[in-house]
Amino acid sequence: MSFDLDAYRSQVNEAAAYLREKLGTEARVGLILGTGLGKLAEEIDGAKTAEYGAIPHFPVSTVESHHGRLLSGTLGGVTVTAMQGRFHLYEGYDGRQITFPVRVMKQLGVDTLLVSNAAGGMNPLFRRGDLMLLTDHINLQGMNPLTGPNADEWGPRFPDMSEPYDKGLRDIAEQAALDRAIRLQQGVYVAVEGPNLETRAEYRFLRFIGADAVGMSTVPEVIVGNHMGMRCMAISVITDECLPDALEPVSIEDVLAAAAEAEPNLTALMRAVVEEIG
Ligand code: HPA
Repeated sequence: MSFDLDAYRSQVNEAAAYLREKLGTEARVGLILGTGLGKLAEEIDGAKTAEYGAIPHFPVSTVESHHGRLLSGTLGGVTVTAMQGRFHLYEGYDGRQITFPVRVMKQLGVDTLLVSNAAGGMNPLFRRGDLMLLTDHINLQGMNPLTGPNADEWGPRFPDMSEPYDKGLRDIAEQAALDRAIRLQQGVYVAVEGPNLETRAEYRFLRFIGADAVGMSTVPEVIVGNHMGMRCMAISVITDECLPDALEPVSIEDVLAAAAEAEPNLTALMRAVVEEIG
């Protein structure tokens, strides 16, 4: 089955038209709020919301720990559009569906993408509850959201990936963390398909190939953001310690509890970055 680019483009435009009508303002900063990390949305002032189910062609979150709505309003005086809940490969969506909202955000004027996620920490210096600023990533999801015909007006066929996470944004996040005495680790995120957590042998492998944290999201959105020339930044909450020789069983409840504990720091940091770039 070949991918119908014209249909996809029309769908993006229809969703953007709906949101322009429904949410009004055009935002420059887009936020994607991951597992257990939706609280930042509550700090958005004057938020207008659109349920994913009501937006034309939008996928719908099937994960219980994710809300499914888009909000638009101001955060620290800066106009933002936020996804409260995202889409994952393990839900059965493909790369184009997962990244559909990023294409739509760009149509709405977003040129800066700030992403959060929950991830397993493989760097032995990381502790549960730490935040990790992504410096780089490895795509091990076995797919790429850019395969198939390229929309040249969106971006190049062969996008550069020498710096997928904008250095200027990373510097701002680092300074904001220092100012607030928030411990901010830095490292490489590897994206896997999921939904199972990894085996010991897999964690050993993922650490060996150069990753500090592992998760099931973010990389598709950041690839598409880069494709369209957006500045991207991402922060992981380390929700479990993935040390192959001392591995403990982990449940989704553990992951959510750790995300909830770290959420205030993550929220403070994201907010500070938005204020700084606004
Ligand atoms: N592996 C993959 N994704 C995750 C993990 C993990 O250990 N923890 C939280 N998200």
